[in-house]
Amino acid sequence: MIVCSCNVLSDQDVRSAVKAERTCSIRQVYGCLGCSAQCGRCARTIRRIIDEALGSARPASSNPDSSAVDLLEY
Ligand code: FES
Repeated sequence: MIVCSCNVLSDQDVRSAVKAERTCSIRQVYGCLGCSAQCGRCARTIRRIIDEALGSARPASSNPDSSAVDLLEY
């Protein structure tokens, strides 16, 4: 399933990047996949996929007040 329409990234692309880099950073996932954030609408979804892949529940992903920019910095 495509999770980032700007960069045409799938959920599997994100999981592969997290597994390869063992990163918890959205920016590092983009970088690992050779792209960067454009509109930022996918940030929450990518954050959730990272959290699931690493087996952790991060508070920022469940915070409805956190903006996409906050998530990109996380
Ligand atoms: S949907 Fe991912 S940057 Fe726009």
